[in-house]
Amino acid sequence: MSLVQPHGVSRALQPLLVPEPDRAERLARAAALPRVPMTSRETSDLIMLGIGAFTPLSGFMGEDDWRGSCGQMQLADGTFWPLPITLSAGAEVAGGLKEGTEVALADGETGELMATLLVQERYRIDRQYECSEVYRTVDPAHPGVAKVLEQGEYNLAGPVEVLSEGTFPQQYPGLYLSPAQTRELFQRLGWSTVAAFQTRNPMHRAHEYLAKVAVEVCDGVLIHQLLGRLKAGDIPAEVRVRAIDSLVAGYFVPGTCVQAGYPMEMRYAGPREALLHAVFRQNYGCSHLIVGRDHAGVGSYYGPFDAQAIFKEIPEQALQLRPMFFDLTFYCRGCDGMASSRTCPHDPSQRLLISGTDLRQMLSRGDLVPEHFSRPEVLEILKEYYLGLSQDSGMAGSARSPVQSTQTLDQRRT
Ligand code: ADX
Repeated sequence: MSLVQPHGVSRALQPLLVPEPDRAERLARAAALPRVPMTSRETSDLIMLGIGAFTPLSGFMGEDDWRGSCGQMQLADGTFWPLPITLSAGAEVAGGLKEGTEVALADGETGELMATLLVQERYRIDRQYECSEVYRTVDPAHPGVAKVLEQGEYNLAGPVEVLSEGTFPQQYPGLYLSPAQTRELFQRLGWSTVAAFQTRNPMHRAHEYLAKVAVEVCDGVLIHQLLGRLKAGDIPAEVRVRAIDSLVAGYFVPGTCVQAGYPMEMRYAGPREALLHAVFRQNYGCSHLIVGRDHAGVGSYYGPFDAQAIFKEIPEQALQLRPMFFDLTFYCRGCDGMASSRTCPHDPSQRLLISGTDLRQMLSRGDLVPEHFSRPEVLEILKEYYLGLSQDSGMAGSARSPVQSTQTLDQRRT
């Protein structure tokens, strides 16, 4: 048995990153081109394009693909694609560029030259339409919607040549992996069925349970963390990486679990983001995606199982990857073990459920958190983080100096 094939008709990964030996020369040429700044979301999408995670896209979407991905979840050529991948520009930038012009794309925050784009199209977008189709809300309090509403009213589209992966390779050595690398790893391990566990949070016992149920029925699990930017209040990736490292080292059987991180920024688009998670996990070589309660959700914008329901609405042949659905999971005192709403017959009062906000308060106060909720090694790392935050409450979590993971790739593979 072999791994699932990459997404798209060609069934081959299409990384858009220029090979290393040619990059210096291309960068020198790009320096002379008109420069277009990217938002952090656009930069992270560009890197996803660079490593082939967004195969078969060849760049930022033109108007037909934008409209099709928003409205029908498909590109103009019929390929399934549930969420627009676009580059925005204000009227002053877009107005000064003719179609056919080559531009350099720069990280809007650091100024780093990241890519070149051949501008094939400039088009005006209806941001409210995009938000209502993709996010199911136009509420500017939704963190993903806010980013769409803030962007310029034009999109620039065309093929890109990616020249940098930003700081990800240095910041997360051994964890930041491309689809080609995870596929090679799975093949070396002799795996063909691999379940992806998407996460943007440290893993507690409920998450560990989901990943281990997947190990029971697949050759292995890919614990796949988001390394891009998150909304304020979420636990930064650097802290989460250490927490998950400690969980995997202490509680997973070597050879059943691979850890990796991907550079995308969280959109909190719930059901649509779950489908995008499925598309790129197929590119990473995963046959299954774990979809639990409130996958990729935020606040109460989505029902707890909307991200599962949407998989039943897409055509059978849209993806090779299959979703693996889970009901709410928890430790139950009556069961004296981990269970879900499907498997636990006891009264809900027997369940040990702690919200993210309550956990944060408990750890900041130094309260004892039950070990049935989270492993002590994980709690220790989170406690240190929250105590640091409360001692230094003027400083945002993401602005703190990154805590480097000390594990090597080999340790992470266990
Ligand atoms: S997400 O935004 O990346 O989806 P998170 O990291 O919290 O958030 O969740 C990772 C995965 O675990 C998602 O599939 C989510 O639905 C699932 N999940 C988290 N907690 C639970 C739970 N208690 N019961 C069932 N599924 C859960």
